[in-house]
Amino acid sequence: MCGIVGHVGDQQATPVLLDGLRRLEYRGYDSAGVAVHSRKGIEIVRAVGKLRNLESALLKDGLPGTVGIGHTRWATHGRPSEVNAHPHVAGPIAVVHNGIIENHSALRNELEASGYSMSSETDTEIIAHLIHRETKSGLDMLSAIRRALSFVEGAYAIAVLSEEEPDRIVVAKNASPLVLGVSKGATYCASDIPALLPYTNEMVFLEDGEIALLEATGFTLSKLDGTPLTRRTRKISWSPVMAEKAGYKHFMLKEIFEQPRALEDTLRGRLDRERADIATPEIGLSDDDAKRIKRIILLACGTSHHATIAGRYWLEELAKVPAITELASEFRGRDAVVGEGDLVIAVSQSGETLDTLMAAKAAKERGAMVLAIANVNGSAIPRMADGSFYTHAGPEIGVASTKCFMAQLANLLMFSIWLGRRRGTIDDAQATELVEGLARIPNQIAERLRETHLMVTDIVRDFSDARDVLFLGRGLSYPMALEGALKLKEVSYVHAEGYAAGEMKHGPIALLDAHVPVVVLMPQDRHYDRVSSNMQEARAREAKIIGVTTEGDKHAQALCDRFVEVAKTHEALSPFVTVVPLQLYAYCVADHKGTDVDQPRNLAKTVTVE
Ligand code: AGP
Repeated sequence: MCGIVGHVGDQQATPVLLDGLRRLEYRGYDSAGVAVHSRKGIEIVRAVGKLRNLESALLKDGLPGTVGIGHTRWATHGRPSEVNAHPHVAGPIAVVHNGIIENHSALRNELEASGYSMSSETDTEIIAHLIHRETKSGLDMLSAIRRALSFVEGAYAIAVLSEEEPDRIVVAKNASPLVLGVSKGATYCASDIPALLPYTNEMVFLEDGEIALLEATGFTLSKLDGTPLTRRTRKISWSPVMAEKAGYKHFMLKEIFEQPRALEDTLRGRLDRERADIATPEIGLSDDDAKRIKRIILLACGTSHHATIAGRYWLEELAKVPAITELASEFRGRDAVVGEGDLVIAVSQSGETLDTLMAAKAAKERGAMVLAIANVNGSAIPRMADGSFYTHAGPEIGVASTKCFMAQLANLLMFSIWLGRRRGTIDDAQATELVEGLARIPNQIAERLRETHLMVTDIVRDFSDARDVLFLGRGLSYPMALEGALKLKEVSYVHAEGYAAGEMKHGPIALLDAHVPVVVLMPQDRHYDRVSSNMQEARAREAKIIGVTTEGDKHAQALCDRFVEVAKTHEALSPFVTVVPLQLYAYCVADHKGTDVDQPRNLAKTVTVE
């Protein structure tokens, strides 16, 4: 969950490293550090807390040199402290690491028994000592790292400097993301694409078990066993501006406002309006494959999991295929029955979430076909999957996912329509309504965004002190209620629960009193009357109702203390519009409270630990 970055080239390394770390800070932000080859040897500066503390330290000390590595940390082994911050050093070796070394205790005991002493509590320092030990037998940096990694079990993306080889960085990867960037006169490495976008869009993704030697003139790639590899760079279409705040106070707000564009880009070229169908040549499933699917298992975590619940409802309703959703961490932790005839859809914004990756891998090993829905091109989950169906939301920097959730919904709905067409479960009229309705959604969201922001800002003034908030919805609004509650918890630290409205009477109703706002999602769908009754039940317990209602729905609005209006859509499309005020609600409460909206405490954008 940490971020690593490296630069070898003809310009000063420190500004590039700091800029890269700033763009990776969403991955972890409890300490940071850099190591640079200077005339005096490898010099290191580390600081606890946000990157600005490292920047201040560097202002004092400076760090001249053109080859360096950097790290921003999300603590796993050892509390956030300067001594546990990366880079870690052993003799002439400096290492930054993202991942977890599973056999670190055994390795630490072994090293300590042979006279090595550790100065930190981290698993990373062990890698530095192992490499140092191997260099003592005369191996060069690349060979020493190969040997050292043969003792290591677990996940890592590492970047290493050696005092003996001042013009080089060596990087290696297993189960943690690592991308190389190549430009004229410089080579870079990073945990994620946005860190490199200001410098190059020619990139190479490393696979597990690969190692690369970086020099100013380019890179040499091989497997850990020494087999040489060649790989062409891939042109990344994201621009650096896409990863900037563009005048918004926070990335989260910018990304909420970008949703119409993210949806348009995700839908582009895929809505076949003439045939009332979905064009998905990239998925890699034939029409026959579509008919043979016996069951669909949707795997994901967090917000992506909420998208899969909507996906399940669409798949069952439109394609009449049995579908289940599972939290990836639960699925991989038990002996799930999965095999041939099952299609697993692994949904992940980052494409790197370890639980989702491992769950999908396990399903694939047992004979299921795996389709990835991811936003990051070339990331681990699409690479292991049989087919990929990318969302095109652009880089999402705010730790709380918003526009990628929206794009995931679009892909799941498009896939359901595609499948329904092939399985003969939706007719032309139904498909036309859905395809045309979906095409209208970006505008429908865009037209209301500013007004919704104002309305929600006003509502939040009255409710910002609430210690608990309940979100209720039925049908497709149920996963949106879950998502509304998660967003609020993540960014504002307010306790919130999302519930299927029908479940309220089975427990949560006991929580209600005049101090608990209840956000009720009330699109005009088949559940409308029952949700009205649930709303009355909540009102009878003096709860304050904030309704998310269809424009002009006076009946629903009369039942609410406060309400927000969303556009009228086909009932299958309501999640696209109802989730927007919930995202804004979470954002406005957080902004009002002054929390760190884009980098909430204890969270990281990409979760590559179990
Ligand atoms: C979203 O707001 C969260 N930060 C988190 O729940 C996230 O959705 C989850 O970690 C899964 O990430 P992924 O989509 O990259 O796999």
